[in-house]
Amino acid sequence: MDDRPIGVFDSGFGGLTVARALIDLLPNERLIYVGDTGRYPYGNKPQDDVRAYSHEITKWLIDEHNVKLVVVACNTASAAALTELQATYDTPIVGVIDAGVASLLKVSESNHVGVIGTVGTIGSGAYQSAVAEADDNVRLTCAACPGFVEFVERGELNSDQVRVLAQRLLSPIVDAKVDSLLLGCTHYPFLARTISDAVGRDVVLVSSADETAFQVRAMLLEDGTIREGEPVAPVFLSSGDVEEFARIGRMLLGPELDNVGPWSPE
Ligand code: DGL
Repeated sequence: MDDRPIGVFDSGFGGLTVARALIDLLPNERLIYVGDTGRYPYGNKPQDDVRAYSHEITKWLIDEHNVKLVVVACNTASAAALTELQATYDTPIVGVIDAGVASLLKVSESNHVGVIGTVGTIGSGAYQSAVAEADDNVRLTCAACPGFVEFVERGELNSDQVRVLAQRLLSPIVDAKVDSLLLGCTHYPFLARTISDAVGRDVVLVSSADETAFQVRAMLLEDGTIREGEPVAPVFLSSGDVEEFARIGRMLLGPELDNVGPWSPE
């Protein structure tokens, strides 16, 4: 039994897809979520900047909240910083890339899969390496989708503009005839309908959120650090406009997004 909270962070709202899965699977855990909306998007920033932000937030979660585990609920930050974070801190730190690849390979029947993500994630080669390491018989087609994150951050999930952008950016995925597509950015599940319309209903969309939550549960069980006792309301913090975060965040996550406060980089 370990009463300490689990820290979760993302550049903004994307990590709410992972927070949702954690709340559903581990309802007794205390969650503290940092959305770095003041500095989003991470996906088009230099890797060094994303690494510095990731260190700053992780260190803050550990120093100020004594978290028992950190979930890097952002692919761009996982690609840029996970290995370094794990080497720096004693606290267990979980990313979303391995979980995403595990889910993707579980559902694919043709072994011909796609991954979409930010420019930073796709350009880092993290998915290309992770898929090759998991199974070198898999044919992988990747596409970066600049602009998707901004639509989600505005709460615009289904407009004509995002649909036109999706059709353009996802045409390499359609041409490649993949049977399953990993949403390799935690913001993208919020655009699932638009993405599915663009790639076709036959393509199975996969998100890393549930598998990440299962991995977190497995780690807590193994370490004997599952929290028991009454559920506690999760805490959400934003480095941007707190009221805006509460308004759009509630629409995306649901009523649990109630307790929102400011967060600022040191
Ligand atoms: N949710 C982040 C990810 O998974 C979005 C990055 C961004 O802010 O561009 O990559």
